Amino acid sequence: MLDLFQNLKRTHHCGELSLNELAKQVTIMGWVHRRRDLGGLIFLDIRDVKGVVQVIIHPDNTLAFTKAEKVRNEYVVAIKGTVQARTGQNINMQMQTGSIEVKADDLFVLNDSAPLPIQTSEAAMADEDLRLTYRYLDLRREKLQQIILKRHEIILAIREYMVKQGFYEIETPVLMKSTPEGARDYLVPSRIHPGKFFALPQSPQMFKQLLMIGGFDRYFQIARCFRDEDLRADRQPEFTQLDIEMSFATQDMIFELLEGLLEYVFERVLNLKLQIPFTRLTYQEAMNRFGCDKPDLRFGLELKDVTQVFDQSSFQVFSNVINANGAIRCLVVPEGSALSRKQQDEMVEIARHNGGKGLAFWKVLQAEPDNSAGKFFSEKEKVELIQVTKAGEKDLIIIAADSSEMTCKVLAAVRNHLGNLLKLIPQDKYAFAWITDFPLFQRNEENGTWEPAHHMFTLPKNEHVEWLDDPQKTGEILGQLYDLVCNGMELSSGSIRCHRYDLQKKIFDILGLNEEELKAKFGFFLEALKYGTPPHGGIAPGIDRLVMLLTQADSIRDVIAFPKTLKATDLMCGAPSEVSDIQWKELHIKPLNNNV
Ligand code: AMO
Repeated sequence: MLDLFQNLKRTHHCGELSLNELAKQVTIMGWVHRRRDLGGLIFLDIRDVKGVVQVIIHPDNTLAFTKAEKVRNEYVVAIKGTVQARTGQNINMQMQTGSIEVKADDLFVLNDSAPLPIQTSEAAMADEDLRLTYRYLDLRREKLQQIILKRHEIILAIREYMVKQGFYEIETPVLMKSTPEGARDYLVPSRIHPGKFFALPQSPQMFKQLLMIGGFDRYFQIARCFRDEDLRADRQPEFTQLDIEMSFATQDMIFELLEGLLEYVFERVLNLKLQIPFTRLTYQEAMNRFGCDKPDLRFGLELKDVTQVFDQSSFQVFSNVINANGAIRCLVVPEGSALSRKQQDEMVEIARHNGGKGLAFWKVLQAEPDNSAGKFFSEKEKVELIQVTKAGEKDLIIIAADSSEMTCKVLAAVRNHLGNLLKLIPQDKYAFAWITDFPLFQRNEENGTWEPAHHMFTLPKNEHVEWLDDPQKTGEILGQLYDLVCNGMELSSGSIRCHRYDLQKKIFDILGLNEEELKAKFGFFLEALKYGTPPHGGIAPGIDRLVMLLTQADSIRDVIAFPKTLKATDLMCGAPSEVSDIQWKELHIKPLNNNV
């Protein structure tokens, strides 16, 4: 029999009770986390959002005791009782409220619960699909509760900081025209305008620039973004950015703002002092030293270019690469000659998985096993290789020979693998770095056209602006583009924008957008640039990724209350789902191969 929820008022949250409330009358409400019946006495652990407290029910309290005998885990109850100290071995130091307990006077059963389809304890976690199906129950899990509440704290701290810096929070439309951020759009058909579609924003990029033109000077938004792209551990189709734009901004001003913001958030949420300013690396330096533009700087193991060492190589694999203007790069693993053949094979697999052909291994100055590339090196090459790499005896040199980009890609992946394998990564460290000076354009490998390396609203570096008129120089133009990376993750990316109509138009021309396309896609935006657009720039840290960093979560799905699966579905609601014939008709569209 359930009790009515009336004349009951919670006085405290379970997790808030302590010796400060000793002898006080309290009313708590929550879920039965655990029930222990010790014959004469019943103990209930009651849980709410702030924690768990132990309630003790004596048999002489007949009514409460009878009800307590019937309650089961996850029933919702209210308890009126008195806080008393625990003594001796009953004190539980593992529990936040372990020095007290509540002696029940009254127990009210507010709701019962069917047996749960998944367990809510960390120890008995069900598989992820089942947990996502019953996400509202999975959310009762302590770890998820902590992460989601941390997310709240992080967003609160962000708002505090941004407002203090004179930024205004302004919302931008969710139903909009497609913005080019590089992924596929989620489209929304218009019922009122047959055959026409809105796009959900991949980011509010154009709107934030238009707000600068509109005179708002400093904008931010906790903005929801939508991208129909292949998902990974740090990607969701629907994610959140801290979107920022600032008029009259230089790159240094944006760096200072972000450094201050992160310093504030880390201190506020983790009580941790970040080292600022952050390291700065140019894109080229990051590629040369780490093989990628989001290097994990928590450990060394840098790449070395050894193309010169092998420029006369008789080893065909190397000479072919050199003749094709490729590169030979390597990693030196200290004492790495102890790595087994199996571990080397795993690295070859990683290289292949990343598009490489393989790897060559040389255990410096050790006997040459069958798979040692050292057998193909001349004595001179060995001496030079040791000189260039400063490798010591017993070190392992791992070499990739391929196009320059591929050697970087392959060795960056192997480097990350070795970082984990050799436990080189300190888990409690945050290694932030700015990556700057990205190329503005990159060639599309398939059709040879130019495309934006990052995004197309970016100003070239001042000294490269003239090159917009020189087709020979297009690939060399560097943009005022920057990424903020941390622990091998791209946390944020942004740029100083092209505020001049003539320059933006030249960029669109290089990208091969013809007048018609331009007008249809960005006509309104180009037009806006004509009317006194202030110089401006911005950035957009991914909030989900920031929460992952601050909570050390492995998966982006753990930091979002209701995430999508890796296949971009919502298992709980069953979305996406079929719609009715009437809806198809109203929207004036038909599925292919379906005669609706
Ligand atoms: P960009 O596309 O680089 O830049 O995105 C900025 C940041 O958003 C996060 N992010 C994602 N997080 C989760 N899932 C995804 N699918 C996903 N895609 C991106 C990342 C990334 O660094 N308008 C520009 C920003 C600007 O120039 O101001 C933009 O959106 O943390």
